[in-house]
Amino acid sequence: MAEGKTAIVTGGSRGIGREVSLRLAALGYDIAIVYVGDENEAADTVRDCEAKGVKAKAYICNVASFEETKNTVAEIRKDFGNIEALVNNAGITRDGLIAFMKEEDWDNVLSVNLKGAFNMIRHTAALFIRNKGGRIVNISSVSGLMGNAGQANYSASKAGIVGLTKATARELAPKGITCNAVAPGFIRTDMTKNITEDNSELLRTIPLGRMGDVSDVASAVVFLLTSPYITGEVLRVDGGIAM
Ligand code: NAI
Repeated sequence: MAEGKTAIVTGGSRGIGREVSLRLAALGYDIAIVYVGDENEAADTVRDCEAKGVKAKAYICNVASFEETKNTVAEIRKDFGNIEALVNNAGITRDGLIAFMKEEDWDNVLSVNLKGAFNMIRHTAALFIRNKGGRIVNISSVSGLMGNAGQANYSASKAGIVGLTKATARELAPKGITCNAVAPGFIRTDMTKNITEDNSELLRTIPLGRMGDVSDVASAVVFLLTSPYITGEVLRVDGGIAM
């Protein structure tokens, strides 16, 4: 159990991040959710975490902003005291063919998905170092491992997460801090609501023959967050797509 420990979950208001928040709350972690968008979704997740007997609070903060993330991490420290775990899950897609991709679609996806994870690690690392411990899990994607046509920006951001994860893992290992990544395949969330399982072509690419659930990904995140001797790992949760 993790009573008294605090985990930050970016994008924790819904989808995979919401499930991660609930699972960590069930383990006894206090939960700080960092998100943008629908306040009702965030309030629901906070309430459902609190129902598990922990403290929870949601912070509106654009992870792409160095200043906003700096201020939000400071606020979380004031509200919760210490921070023991960070899950960089916030992410967006702006799909398009590379020959036509708008510059702003490239910039936005890289800023949220990759710089967002950097910003959060940047503003928590000193505390983790001082604590001589901390756990970081970044959400990548099979799209970053294999490349996905129509997702040059997203694939690049998620491949970047792999490099960020490994460099951070090496740099912070001597301080007792672990940093790992989870690379999901097709998971049923709002992000993938346009993909239906009636699409037999898609299902043929998944050896296990189905899309994943948020709980499949959350289990992997919890496993890595509670594994003191695993660092720099990229754990696929993809039904076998990228094996
Ligand atoms: P979602 O769209 O349901 O939720 C995204 C979350 O990120 C929301 O809580 C939103 O508030 C937050 N967010 C978005 N932009 C933000 C910003 N600028 N600052 C702060 N928070 C922001 O997405 P889903 O499906 O739950 O995905 C979560 C993560 O998993 C993402 O990083 C995504 O790339 C990754 N992933 C998802 C897959 C899927 O099939 N759903 C597959 C592989 C990876």
